[in-house]
Amino acid sequence: MRILLAILLSAMTSLPSAAEPIVLKFSHVVAVGTPKGKAAQRFKDLAEKYTGGAVRVEVYADSSLYKDKEEFEALQLGAVQMIAPSLAKFSPLGIHSFEVFDLPFLFDTEEQLHRVTGGEVGRSLLESLEVRGIKGLAFWDNGFKSFSADRAIRRPQDLRGLRMRIQSSRTLYEQMRTLGAQPEVMAFSEVYQALKAGVVDGTENPHSNLFTQRMHEVQSHVTVSRHGYLGYAVLTNLRFWDSLPGRIRDALERAMAEASAYANSIAAMENAKAIDRVKAFGGTAVYELTAEERAEFRRVLLPVHRKMEDRIGRDLVRAVYRATGFDATID
Ligand code: LMR
Repeated sequence: MRILLAILLSAMTSLPSAAEPIVLKFSHVVAVGTPKGKAAQRFKDLAEKYTGGAVRVEVYADSSLYKDKEEFEALQLGAVQMIAPSLAKFSPLGIHSFEVFDLPFLFDTEEQLHRVTGGEVGRSLLESLEVRGIKGLAFWDNGFKSFSADRAIRRPQDLRGLRMRIQSSRTLYEQMRTLGAQPEVMAFSEVYQALKAGVVDGTENPHSNLFTQRMHEVQSHVTVSRHGYLGYAVLTNLRFWDSLPGRIRDALERAMAEASAYANSIAAMENAKAIDRVKAFGGTAVYELTAEERAEFRRVLLPVHRKMEDRIGRDLVRAVYRATGFDATID
């Protein structure tokens, strides 16, 4: 009888009570003060508000829970319920189409990008993740990348021979190879140390990442080049999502829509503030490419589009060109 009671008691205590909140762990790799860090916090506040506390969101920033590649595994295993990886990091899933966002000089403005992420192409990209047990909820902006290095970069040949850290994208690998650099795939959390120790000579990132990871402190030069884009998709575990009661899912969708609008409204401004802070720091030379210099990078890097289209998907690349009005002519 006593054993039966113990089993019953243990079963009762291991079951969540009606008042116990659903815990949603949200893991990401950047600092709290970045566009993604701020948007994750906004999502938490709104999700908890709109569910009346029925959901508790725990945000783990700065790779404090998982690093780049681990995040995907943790999501698929259900160890976390939400992540927002860079669009350049989806290939380890066996899905290469997201590398379309890595094609150099594909977007000139955020408006062009939003025509893709907010349209049919964006919707079908998110849907394509479902075969991996992942539900894509939204796209969040970061911004255009700059090069940083331990030497001045003004022309494509200035990158020749440099060991450049990249995200895990074959397209970014080709981009760096085309410039004559030596690409090194590395987790975001390791970049600062690697730059400091001279394991790599340079990297590329939007200014908000550069500044909040203090990369500028270990790089003598930053070149504002806007040669490529870095943004995110917010992902959840499909089984987890489908298991939620409808009213909770609705509330989370509402919170996500508002957090996404917020993310996309602050990203450009956050990046502008970050480069001002890098300049104010004083120890790093910040150089903005002239229109002619930028055109030279574009001319050198445009062949990467042709090289990668089989991997990314010819139809997808064409659909993005159509949505943005991309002009493949070289000036
Ligand atoms: C990087 O690895 O450089 C970025 O993807 C980090 C991030 O999440 O913005």
